[in-house]
Amino acid sequence: MTSSATTLPRPAEPNESFDSTDLIRVTGGTPLTGEVTVRGAKNLVPKAMVAALLGSGPSLLRNVPQISDVRIVTGLLEAHGVQVRAGEQPGDLVLDPSSVDRADHAEIAAHAGESRIPILLCGPLLHRIGHAFIPDLGGCRIGDRPIDFHLDALRAFGAVVDKRPEGLHIEAPHRLRGTKITLPYPSVGSTEQVLLTAVLAEGVTELRNAATEPEIQDLIAVLQKMGAIISTLDNRVIHITGVDRLEGYRHLALPDRLEAASWACAALATGGDILVRGALQGPMMTFLNVFRRVGGAFEVEDEPGQTGIRFWHPGGPLSALALETDVHPGFQTDWQQPMVVALTQAQGLSIVHETVYEKRLGFTKALTDMGAQIQLYRECLGGTPCRFGQRNFMHSAVISGPTKLHATDLEIPDLRAGFSYLIAALAAQGTSSVHGISLINRGYEDFGRKLADLGAQVEFPA
Ligand code: EPU
Repeated sequence: MTSSATTLPRPAEPNESFDSTDLIRVTGGTPLTGEVTVRGAKNLVPKAMVAALLGSGPSLLRNVPQISDVRIVTGLLEAHGVQVRAGEQPGDLVLDPSSVDRADHAEIAAHAGESRIPILLCGPLLHRIGHAFIPDLGGCRIGDRPIDFHLDALRAFGAVVDKRPEGLHIEAPHRLRGTKITLPYPSVGSTEQVLLTAVLAEGVTELRNAATEPEIQDLIAVLQKMGAIISTLDNRVIHITGVDRLEGYRHLALPDRLEAASWACAALATGGDILVRGALQGPMMTFLNVFRRVGGAFEVEDEPGQTGIRFWHPGGPLSALALETDVHPGFQTDWQQPMVVALTQAQGLSIVHETVYEKRLGFTKALTDMGAQIQLYRECLGGTPCRFGQRNFMHSAVISGPTKLHATDLEIPDLRAGFSYLIAALAAQGTSSVHGISLINRGYEDFGRKLADLGAQVEFPA
């Protein structure tokens, strides 16, 4: 049986011209009210699926959402001989790597440009079959998104990297060896790369300046269940002692704190009240502090078997604030875009300094077209100087509010901007056409139905 996740439509690339079926019409002005449920985190689930490649037997991943990143990784794993099928319960995915002995380059190449996850297959494939072919990567166009940290780490383990026009060919002439790596920046993907490679490498790996996002902690939990020996120390240091063999795992994926925050911002911007079932307080603490400072109200539900957070606009004006994105435990960059839309409705001047991606504020041009007052700056405003300060990137924003938004035609540039455009359209007067919604499918399960359930006036033209 094939996973139902494989039936999702292929996401459009940002440069493709959008077709009329890739469109949603949103009529704004209705506060969103009701309940939505978030399932497993988009930034954990595909990585846990990759980890299954390291096991000697099948793994069971639970709480898997039907998003297109899951479909893409399913295809990639199948191209290497992993059997992927739905399990007994809704959201169960069974991944059986028992017969992995090949890499179908044509099938793998068919996934070129779809996602950044393929780069994480390197370590597991080198351990398993001694080589990896990684096609051109995709992912959201929010900055250059190089992979130099990944390749340097793989070389440090003893891999040989050959860059060719069709993609990367990576070989492990000998068993990979544990090593010492200090990341130039606490990159999420590079930390995952090191973890997924070090667990089966010979000897000890010491990783310094590691990322510590909750999704990484959950990936470490997955690997430990498989038999890995991983210690997370203070000051972003991780020690991994390589083992000879890993087993399959059973794991309940942690819920998506990024989707949860998006719904919270939708409640704030539309004057609504949304209970996000599945949302957890711990991984969202930094977001919740900002949500409260802006003037939003929330209530955590943590009855046994009934977790969730209710987010609502308590009435009265929202407060402007200064905000800086950062690696965990800072304010997550993926929360920035929906929060910017909410800040267009706050009283006074808000400052947002984006320090993770150099081009993640480009989406504000469309908000300005809708009536928002947003000015972008090259300087590091309102926070500590960052990597982009001297490099000519418009990475700080000053937002003056509140402003009434009006409907317009919107073209989605990336996943989070896409959902943020939906929020803006929901807060605006009139009917907006939002094109390129298949990009939103990459990370928001069934968002059209969820919006309709919350009372949004949305329409998918046939
Ligand atoms: N970087 C390098 N070289 C590298 C790797 C990263 O310079 O080899 C830089 C990047 O250019 C960026 C910074 O390091 O400026 C951080 O990148 P990171 O590696 O942390 O990001 P990622 O692993 O590619 C994941 C999420 C992103 C999320 C970031 C930061 C996935 C699939 N993607 O990306 O999620 O923004 O971590 O938390 O997990 C999203 O969900 O919308 C999204 C973009």
